[in-house]
Amino acid sequence: MCGIVGYVGSRNCTKVLLDALSKLEYRGYDSAGIAILDNSGIKVKKTHGKLEMLRELIRKSPDFTGNCGIGHTRWATHGEPSDVNSHPHGNARVSIVHNGIIENYKKIKAFLESKGYDFESQTDTETVAKLLDYYYNGDPTETIAKVIGEIEGSYALGIIFKDHPETVYAVRKDSPLIVGVGESESFIASDVTAILSYTNKYYMLDENEIVTLKADKITITDIHGIEIHKELKIADWDLEDAKKGGYEHFMLKEIHEQPTAVKTTITPRIIDGMPCLDECGLTIEKLNSYNNIFIVACGTAMHAGLVGKYVVEKIARIPVNVDIASEFRYRDPIVGENDLVILVSQSGETADTKEALRLAKSKGAETLAIVNVKGSAIAREADMVIYTHAGPEISVASTKAYMVQIAVLYLFAFELAYAKGTISEEECKRLTNVLTEIPDKIEAILETQSKCQYIATQLVNADSLLYIGRGLDYALSMEGSLKLKEISYIHSESYAAGELKHGTISLVTNEMPVIAVVTQRDLYDKTFSNVVEVKTRGAKVIFVTHDYINVSDDVADYKIGVPTVDDLLMPMLAVVPLQLIAYYTSVAKGIDVDKPRNLAKSVTVE
Ligand code: AGP
Repeated sequence: MCGIVGYVGSRNCTKVLLDALSKLEYRGYDSAGIAILDNSGIKVKKTHGKLEMLRELIRKSPDFTGNCGIGHTRWATHGEPSDVNSHPHGNARVSIVHNGIIENYKKIKAFLESKGYDFESQTDTETVAKLLDYYYNGDPTETIAKVIGEIEGSYALGIIFKDHPETVYAVRKDSPLIVGVGESESFIASDVTAILSYTNKYYMLDENEIVTLKADKITITDIHGIEIHKELKIADWDLEDAKKGGYEHFMLKEIHEQPTAVKTTITPRIIDGMPCLDECGLTIEKLNSYNNIFIVACGTAMHAGLVGKYVVEKIARIPVNVDIASEFRYRDPIVGENDLVILVSQSGETADTKEALRLAKSKGAETLAIVNVKGSAIAREADMVIYTHAGPEISVASTKAYMVQIAVLYLFAFELAYAKGTISEEECKRLTNVLTEIPDKIEAILETQSKCQYIATQLVNADSLLYIGRGLDYALSMEGSLKLKEISYIHSESYAAGELKHGTISLVTNEMPVIAVVTQRDLYDKTFSNVVEVKTRGAKVIFVTHDYINVSDDVADYKIGVPTVDDLLMPMLAVVPLQLIAYYTSVAKGIDVDKPRNLAKSVTVE
């Protein structure tokens, strides 16, 4: 996902922009660039590759500085990563940086070519720059309003015009953008982390609000030029939070932050020992009004939804459909009035999930967002929102966000079951109390991470692995498999343990690692026999189960024990070794754990 920044103020703009871009590297990128506006006009430096390449390029031009400019890290969507496709794009009169996708760019490009414009890049962004130039009438905000009326798709744009010095313009639709408010200096950025070194005060921009950024004055207007007054927000985490805090990687830090993340997420939602989600408007009456529940998300967030499904269906006895967002959108889902669609998303900006939200609303369903980033698009567009309080999750591989997503889904399931009368107040309090014990249990598991580190060394040369389980263990094994794949590049597959014998067991050969998640005690014997099936075919078995359960060497090569709680909540404990195994396998392979190849932290394109 691209990152954009902009600055106006008395500091060395180039330095500020490079520093801000470095804080956005975690989003994943393949090229970077900066445009500076000074009294000699617009100057651009951009290159394929990492920020260091851009720094090297800029070092060769000491005059490449000023106090007004825009910067960009590109995650290619149109046109391969290359110098010419890097942002900024434009000409001597106007320069822009863009995060998003312009869906009608080909039509615009053809129109501009018919007006004599040439194009040097293959990007959709260049058409926006040239369209701004084509419509430019001396008034930047009027010009911007005209252009955004013609483009379709998603955008967060940072714009500078040659004849408007010391001013940066910005506008967004679908892609996030914040406006930083400093002391006699102003910023735009894709997210607050980029500018926390300078200020923690910011405005969240809404759709098609146009910003005129000057060092000591920020004006925000609608497309008609009417000024809009926004609520000034204060980022409730500092740069330290967003740094590694002494851990080698953000991912390990975030795994270790899980106990705190769970506590800060659930504590305000437990009143007198009972779950209470009133804050988002989920009243008992509403909970009783839903006929069907859908949980729609992508990736790890969807896996959290699978855990939610099992728990809600088991104790509240309401059918729950879990959908991959990109599938939900195109299967013409049977959803409507009196249905609840829950959108789960760490970033709150995932395009597929956001579009699924819009589809659900258009069909008359009520929507609830479970989101980690305040003020994000999904949070703002849903009818109700429950924020998780995991703090910034920087590593591309989601860990603590997953943990707090399922924590919220547990609270939701408990409150729904109690509202439906399928569990008593006493049972609801008992389950809620178990949830409050989870953080300490996670801490205990983290004490034993060296075992996971050792097991990782046994997996590092594997070509492929199987993760197997039944029920909640199967839902959890999906998350374990994704974690391993995305950061170690080792292929793995999650499989329902009972289904193996219907074909996939043919893959099991000597030494093939199989990670068996076996925490659901009512299914223990069945899953145990599935493990024996793969063991007798030569698999190297890693057996994840309760601490107290002994597993003989002829069944498991390695046993990972976790503390025992009610089986319903075991996923919150059993997921920790799976996260650690993936992490240490990636480290053992010398991979950039926090920024794995091809991936971005938030996928804001479809
Ligand atoms: C998880 O480790 C991945 N980074 C990815 O699957 C992620 O969960 C997915 O893209 C959804 O992101 P979101 O939670 O921000 O919507």
